[in-house]
Amino acid sequence: MIIVIIGAQWGDEGKGKVVDLLADRFDIVARYQGGHNAGHSVYVGDRAFVLRLLPSGIIHADKTCVLGNGMVIDPKAFFEEVDQMTAQGIDINPDRLKVSARAHLIMPYHQALDHTSEERLGNEKIGTTLRGIGPAYEDKAGRRGIRVSDALSAETLRMRIERNLEEANRIIVLYGQQPLRADEIYNEIAPLIERLRPFVCETSHFLSEARKAKKKILLEGAQATLLDVDHGTYPYVTSSNPTAGGASVGAGIPPHHITGVLGIVRTYATRVGEGPFPTEMIDAEEEMADLIRQRGNEYGSVTRRPRRCGWFDAVATRYAAELNGFDSIALTKLDVLDALKEIKVCTGYEVEGKRIETFPAVSHDLSIIKPVYETLAGWESDTVGVTEFGRLPQKAKDYVRFLSDQVGVEIGLISTGPERDQTIILRDSVMEGWFLDPIAPAVAES
Ligand code: IMP
Repeated sequence: MIIVIIGAQWGDEGKGKVVDLLADRFDIVARYQGGHNAGHSVYVGDRAFVLRLLPSGIIHADKTCVLGNGMVIDPKAFFEEVDQMTAQGIDINPDRLKVSARAHLIMPYHQALDHTSEERLGNEKIGTTLRGIGPAYEDKAGRRGIRVSDALSAETLRMRIERNLEEANRIIVLYGQQPLRADEIYNEIAPLIERLRPFVCETSHFLSEARKAKKKILLEGAQATLLDVDHGTYPYVTSSNPTAGGASVGAGIPPHHITGVLGIVRTYATRVGEGPFPTEMIDAEEEMADLIRQRGNEYGSVTRRPRRCGWFDAVATRYAAELNGFDSIALTKLDVLDALKEIKVCTGYEVEGKRIETFPAVSHDLSIIKPVYETLAGWESDTVGVTEFGRLPQKAKDYVRFLSDQVGVEIGLISTGPERDQTIILRDSVMEGWFLDPIAPAVAES
């Protein structure tokens, strides 16, 4: 069994918790794109883990984790996280953590270039995480990137750093910053590569063998569908493909071996950084945005940037369901809406008075569309920690059913709090056994 888990919106849907919860069902958890721009929070009892590069499965001692070829890896950030996890009592060793020889490395000059690129864009900046993600993928596509396997040869590493830095420094200097020095970068990176060496693996072969041995593999997407470089709100996107197709390329797994796709959908929407956000709570709704931000702790788990908050956008989520082929949905953060008297859901878009059915390709169009809302009654009572669908207030059940109908995908799991056990497990008729036993009645029957 190979399952992909992907956020359906602009990220931060609560993938970390869901992956952590489902990890028990799997033998291997692999990431296939992105780098340390991600920030997953996982809460286990009174312990909190923040994961950026490592798959959430790392917290489970008996799981093997893979960083796939589609990722960009900053060796410094990698070992900072490994050391942090080790200090929190997690055993990390090359037997249970494999890094693709084909993944690309993020170098210090990529971070400098991320800064200059944002500065150059001024008011039109992307609002990146400034981790060097975009410039590293640019080098990959420009065929000058440094892969993990290249770096294993000290001579190649030194030569590539020198060659790439020559060009990077031209831009860095143009923006009034100090040029970086190749020898300093080499001296910083080379020892980290030596430390990385035992973790390096031909991960697609490893995953292929694991599949043949009937191991269960969970492919964990970072960022989310609407941040996909092809399908997201371009250019306000990340530089990789979080969508389901990206999982095949970025983990090196044949598409037809992927057995299912689970979408993570939050009961409202958020976005960090710039870019169109049709259902954003602004102007008269700013107070509502503050309430959601406080209740949902909507601040970047790594950067602490406040997230922009908005109503559930069914048009965007239908688009995500169609693109990824969601077989089921994990609906997160239901409890965050407990205090609301009324809840709006965007069910369609209008441009100049005309209804449009599809998600526009052009970001500008998205910034001028008018969301068409339906307003549902809030339940105004506490759902924190509810574990049975039948115990939810009727209006909360109605809201969940409404979202499921709007998106056209069955909901298999509902999260009612950040802890593992604050979860309602529903039957998944598409793929029995995805979720934990015992299986509760489906939404439709309750
Ligand atoms: P980058 O990935 O750092 O290049 O940033 C590009 C865009 O993706 C920016 O709007 C970021 O805020 C957003 N982004 C990157 N990673 C995440 C994430 O893990 N969650 C939410 N947004 C993200």
